Amino acid sequence: SPVKRPTATKFDFMVVSNRLPVDRISDDNGHGNDGWRRSPGGLVTALAPMMTKSDGAWVGWHGAPDETVRPFSHEGMDLIPVQLSSDDVELFYEGFSNATIWPLYHDVIAPPEFHRTWWDSYRKVNKKFADAVARHAAQDATVWVQDYQLQLVPRLLREARPDLKIGFFNHIPFPPPEIFAQLPWRREIIDGLLGADLLGFQRPSDAGNFMRSARRFLGASVKQQQVHVKGPDGEVTHIARAQAFPISIDVDQIRELAARPDIIERAQQIRKDLGNPKTILLGVDRLDYTKGIRHRLKAFEELLADGHIKVEDATLIQVASPSRERVEQYRLLREEIEGTVGHINGTYDTIQNTAVRYLHHSYPVEEMVAMYLAADVMLVTALRDGMNLVAKEYVTARSEDDGALVLSEFAGAADQLKQALLINPHDIDGLKSTILRAINLSPKEARRRMKLMRKQILDHDVDHWSAEFLAALEEKVVRDDS
Ligand code: G6P
Repeated sequence: SPVKRPTATKFDFMVVSNRLPVDRISDDNGHGNDGWRRSPGGLVTALAPMMTKSDGAWVGWHGAPDETVRPFSHEGMDLIPVQLSSDDVELFYEGFSNATIWPLYHDVIAPPEFHRTWWDSYRKVNKKFADAVARHAAQDATVWVQDYQLQLVPRLLREARPDLKIGFFNHIPFPPPEIFAQLPWRREIIDGLLGADLLGFQRPSDAGNFMRSARRFLGASVKQQQVHVKGPDGEVTHIARAQAFPISIDVDQIRELAARPDIIERAQQIRKDLGNPKTILLGVDRLDYTKGIRHRLKAFEELLADGHIKVEDATLIQVASPSRERVEQYRLLREEIEGTVGHINGTYDTIQNTAVRYLHHSYPVEEMVAMYLAADVMLVTALRDGMNLVAKEYVTARSEDDGALVLSEFAGAADQLKQALLINPHDIDGLKSTILRAINLSPKEARRRMKLMRKQILDHDVDHWSAEFLAALEEKVVRDDS
């Protein structure tokens, strides 16, 4: 018979996300044992102190299908696993989350697929997450729901537990209503989100897009940043606010790593191993069609073909970490990228030099920082990106105020990193000339730009982000009827 927990613990502060902030440590045979390691990334760093200080818990999926894991604690954080069956993984995660919502919210770069079975699963799994929170939340607790996989959770929670204070943060873009309109379940999604007291977005335009959709598809009345949510009889039941809170990174972690002698030495070794070219360019992305990796490779290939870049002088390191490998569009993209890289290298490589050093791996943060230190030019060419934290990490690692960041205006980070060399990745000629400009930037200008960008990020790290959001969530709201 199932073992009962000695006390039915209730938590005052709960975070809910599709994934728990831990990864399983597997042994040498690749089999999981019972060890866990905290996941890399700023979100968990920002929230871990709140988790351990206050009576907090994190609800999420532990990453393996068809496996029940009991609540456990890790480095002082209470973790409550949600179980997903292999059907849930296929229909809710790979299907509706990553083949419907993900492409729809990223400017339909890939065609979103609409399947009713996926939607049914999305509803069912969102209910599973909401139930887990409702069961464990103390009276009047604060709950912070994360990201596009869980857009129905705010409404489900409000219904089950009207005492809770509910925040939601969307880490990815929110599309304009003209695109959102395609979704057969657009009303349900907006209604699901409007269960929250506060909705956070990366850019003001994302918050604006959401409010326009709330007005258009649910007839909600929108006043400044407030959406007046109506009940069945048309009376206002509560006010949901929508605002931008641009996310950031764990600045201290990146700075400390960038100052570590072994990591500085590793950066020099990377340059040496590549034959000490004059210029190292770097791209670091999940292998995702939103990242504009093809556009970047196209521009780089043309620069080689035009003779503006010589393979003896410049190497592009492209880290493409494996992602969502069972989703068709991701498989197609991998084929295409790897074909293109093979073509470029086959054409331009010499025995000594390589044009593109392509790495389909993920690396620990220490190695990433060594690459940031080794790279003269960072290329962030996303076609659409909620924020892009790689851009912020690169800038933070450049403690000597040198190096150049080429940054897509379609990444949220462009709102904060105004001194980057901004590009439209669709404009290949513009991208090519900006890459050349970055390679040839005078040390003085590089320094001026990098200094201003570093100041922006050092003043706005991820703790600042979570503190601002949570403070706004606790604010008393005065209804705006202007
Ligand atoms: C993006 C999303 C996250 C997601 C991450 C990795 O950053 O905003 O919610 O966790 O990608 O994707 P995965 O599908 O592996 O969780």
